[in-house]
Amino acid sequence: MASGVPWTYVISTTHHGLNFPLIRVNRRGINVPQGETSHGLRRAIPHAEGREVLVEPSYSVHPSSYVDNPCEIGDGTKIWHFCHIMPHAKIGNRCSLGQNVLVSSHVEIGNNVKIQNNVALYTGAIIEDDVFLGPSCVLTNIVNPRSEIVRRHMYENTLIRKGASVGANATIVCGSTIGRYAFIAAGAVVTKDVPDYALMMGTGPPRRLDEPARLSARGAG
Ligand SMILES: CC(C)(COP(=O)(O)OP(=O)(O)OC[C@H]1O[C@@H](n2cnc3c(N)ncnc32)[C@H](O)[C@@H]1OP(=O)(O)O)[C@@H](O)C(=O)NCCC(=O)NCCS
Repeated sequence: MASGVPWTYVISTTHHGLNFPLIRVNRRGINVPQGETSHGLRRAIPHAEGREVLVEPSYSVHPSSYVDNPCEIGDGTKIWHFCHIMPHAKIGNRCSLGQNVLVSSHVEIGNNVKIQNNVALYTGAIIEDDVFLGPSCVLTNIVNPRSEIVRRHMYENTLIRKGASVGANATIVCGSTIGRYAFIAAGAVVTKDVPDYALMMGTGPPRRLDEPARLSARGAG
């Protein structure tokens, strides 16, 4: 559903139990849980039956973006141009998602997270509070992708802990945890866990691995 404008619901007196696609809403102190039925809206707004009720989202989504339901988006979060939030994603309060950000299904994002332009968060990404993700940084979710083999059951998690920053164009190979307040420099490639407060920089020269034991062990075939 393209979003960004207030939703209007007419509370029906006859169609009890209709499952309106309600979003968690309202700047007027009325909190209707996401996925709530029209019964919930009636409970929340007494004497509203049969009247038109303006329900405003408590977060903003540019009209060029898509937000699939069900998903959770916290108060004060801003979603800018050309983003896609997929079903079952969770985004906390006061986050900012720049242009062209993808949040895949089941991704979890905490509060006050800043995501710059062109970041794709694939299933398996867990982003804690106060994290900064620089423009075009990449979080992978399959360590050994092959086009002809389906590996959807082999997604690995990437955990970015509270307060960490990931610089522009950095790549985090999945299965890694970035520690609290760690800093990943622009363009760095991270293949292992990063301790709390560490500053990680550089990509290292690429090495040829004639015996890709790690790939074989993970079923590269
Ligand atoms: C890692 C970082 C914080 C280091 O900043 P700094 O402490 O001011 O470091 P300096 O600029 O003094 O550089 C120190 C050395 O590291 C090198 N260096 C700095 N950043 C580097 C990087 N990302 N990758 C590789 N080397 C880097 C410098 O060339 C310099 O090398 P030298 O001593 O041989 O001359 C910074 O360079 C960085 O990557 N910031 C992220 C920026 C970003 O992505 N912002 C996103 C929002 S726009």
